[in-house]
Amino acid sequence: MNNFQYYNPVRIVFGEGQIEQLSDLVPNDAKVLITYGGGSAERTGTLDEVRKALATNGNREVFEFGGIEPNPEFNTLLKAADMVNEHNIDFLLAVGGGSVIDGSKFVALVSSLTEDDNADRTVSREKAWDALLSGCANIDTAIDLGAVLTIPATGSEMNNGGVVNHSERQAKLPFRSPLVFPKFSILDPTKTLTLPERQVMNGVADAFVHVMEQYLTYPVNAKVQDAFAESLLKILIEEGAAVKADPENLETRKNIMWTATMALNGLIGTGVPQDWTTHMVGHELTSLHSIDHARTLTILLPSVLRELKESKKDKLLQYARNVWAIDSNSDTKQDDDSIIETAIVKTENFFRSLGLPVSLADEKLDESAIDPIIKQLEAHNMVKLGEHGNNDLEVSRRILERSLTSAA
Ligand code: NZQ
Ligand code: ZN
Repeated sequence: MNNFQYYNPVRIVFGEGQIEQLSDLVPNDAKVLITYGGGSAERTGTLDEVRKALATNGNREVFEFGGIEPNPEFNTLLKAADMVNEHNIDFLLAVGGGSVIDGSKFVALVSSLTEDDNADRTVSREKAWDALLSGCANIDTAIDLGAVLTIPATGSEMNNGGVVNHSERQAKLPFRSPLVFPKFSILDPTKTLTLPERQVMNGVADAFVHVMEQYLTYPVNAKVQDAFAESLLKILIEEGAAVKADPENLETRKNIMWTATMALNGLIGTGVPQDWTTHMVGHELTSLHSIDHARTLTILLPSVLRELKESKKDKLLQYARNVWAIDSNSDTKQDDDSIIETAIVKTENFFRSLGLPVSLADEKLDESAIDPIIKQLEAHNMVKLGEHGNNDLEVSRRILERSLTSAA
């Protein structure tokens, strides 16, 4: 196991009816900006619950900013940041999924980047763009934020990262800062019952791939992280099928929600190598073709595993054995290659069973899509991906070529 530090200060408040805890969690005298997405929070009544809780206990001034898109848009977020400065907001409350929480983290970070000489403190578009390009690494102040999660998927509710999309520049870029760990996140699983099936399945797949990108590299004898990761994968396989068969089952929803949070709160990624190739190539597919985040991952992951199966061989065999119970000692003894291929095919079939695409063809894309993706990877300096930093543009190209149609 490699050396590591682990720090995660996010208070998790889990369970039905817990939104009312906002009256204690948000400072009594705060100037709060509630941020939300395209309308689901209003429609489902979650926003009303939030408003009611904030009006209890104390003397908060509450403002609202709606319209944060899935794959949150840079320009929209800067409007929210301007509102933060206009009203001297000192607490952001994100109500929604990964897009709203990520977007609010970005707002929290960039609202201090005002034009040097303007009295009304609008945020400098250039400074904010430069900050995003450098992953927000050099920003040293941020507004406090909390979250009410309505879709289990990204782990944003318990981590310090985010992803922002800039459509005009055709860029979807990640950022990270210890300043944007939420002060708290409320996880009420009943809120997920209103999700369309597509979003539920997207969430299961996103969490699955988060675990895989921290697990499927090479062994460093990290037994806690490996066993934890394998358990999370098995739960997602089981509960993915369960939620499809019985979407109203709250116990299933609870398990999916907590698993997705645990998948990307830093714990299983401590002290182990990581490979975020699938996500980084996937971001380019979203920004060029508007494919849902999770669906880019299910298209790419099988090809990443096939392309890199030599360097990932030990972990692939462990994955086959411990997650898919493929027994190398059974009577029908298979060689290593066929064990690995069986595990990858089972992974693909799992994605398919959730109604997710496993090839570019499934999203009506052909080989003409590849060159522009490679160009964008180069423009965003995604040229040394993977646990060894060996995945250059040629490797990414081969991964994309393998993804044109499903191999299974
Ligand atoms: O916008 P509204 O109307 O709210 O509708 C949303 C949106 O259309 C809807 N929705 C959310 N909760 C609902 C609901 N509909 C009905 N009932 C509810 N309870 O769901 C749609 C998708 O929402 P979104 O927030 O985009 O989904 P998700 O949580 O999957 O977030 C995806 C974003 O997170 C980023 C992705 O790149 C993408 O931009 N990621 C963030 C990560 C992080 N911060 O660590 C890691 C991930 O890898 C991921 O990259
Ligand atoms: Zn993801």
